[in-house]
Amino acid sequence: MKGIILAGGSGSRLQPITNSISKQLVPVYDKPMVYYPLATLMQAGVREILVISAPSALPLFTELLGDGRRLGLELSYLPQEEPRGIAEALVLGERHLGGAPAALALGDNVFHGSTLQEHLWAGRERLDGCVLFGSPVSDPHRYGIAEVDGSGNLLSLEEKPPAPKSDLAVTGLYLYDGNASEVARNVRPSPRGELEITDVNAAYLEEKRSSIITLPPGISWADTGTPESLLSTSQYVYSLEKQERTRVACIEEIALRMGFIDSGACYNLGAEMQHSAYGQYVMNFAELWDDS
Ligand code: TTP
Repeated sequence: MKGIILAGGSGSRLQPITNSISKQLVPVYDKPMVYYPLATLMQAGVREILVISAPSALPLFTELLGDGRRLGLELSYLPQEEPRGIAEALVLGERHLGGAPAALALGDNVFHGSTLQEHLWAGRERLDGCVLFGSPVSDPHRYGIAEVDGSGNLLSLEEKPPAPKSDLAVTGLYLYDGNASEVARNVRPSPRGELEITDVNAAYLEEKRSSIITLPPGISWADTGTPESLLSTSQYVYSLEKQERTRVACIEEIALRMGFIDSGACYNLGAEMQHSAYGQYVMNFAELWDDS
């Protein structure tokens, strides 16, 4: 499975923050936002990842993450000239995917929970068409909403419905089989002029090859695209890291846990940031890790 992080868009809800900086480089508490979707893909065992962003922002993403080799990853970069919709990521990423199954992660979505990795792997295992991840929300008219039957089967998908059939929001992580680029190429722009990811997912649903995993209460999900959610997610990460003396979306730790790098390499990554609490955490974690 190959990954795509979609880290472009207009970020208009975060203006003026996003007037001069890409939304996904803005910090969520102690690390850039893009670390969070990157951590999610890494926990799903995905190592070949394409980062798509606006042409002006790509040099900064490259400076931040490089070619990924230091984390045991293969990162590549591609511009999206205009924010023409989330589904365009699958079209732009066609060469990168090369017919492989895909994990598409939105650059402003944060997932966290002790059983997250388990659910990601369950999604990979059950993948036959497309697998979505749902999370209950209190304001369903603002999201893509999934209707499921009593056995959890996906019945319908609606984008920002005025009368939602459920409170289950479709989160910004999508798993697809090897046909995703082709399906996305057949999607026509919506009335708002975007290639909608809901239309891709609906095309799979029409073939009865779309399913959804409802994330349990222990797994939190946030879309950090508004000032309020940026602040509340930062506060959530702050509280968790302080209380549990852990780090959320620490990509160096995850690379070590996943066996992508060894403890020596992890320690060195931390040492480069030794003046920060984050760097100290990475060094300590690597020191305590047993490579055998
Ligand atoms: P959104 O948050 O829906 O859109 P946005 O980032 O443009 O923000 P706003 O609504 O405030 O103007 O996008 C979800 C994610 O997908 C986010 O990480 C940006 C990314 N995205 C792209 O990279 N390209 C696109 O064409 C679109 C629509 C979104």
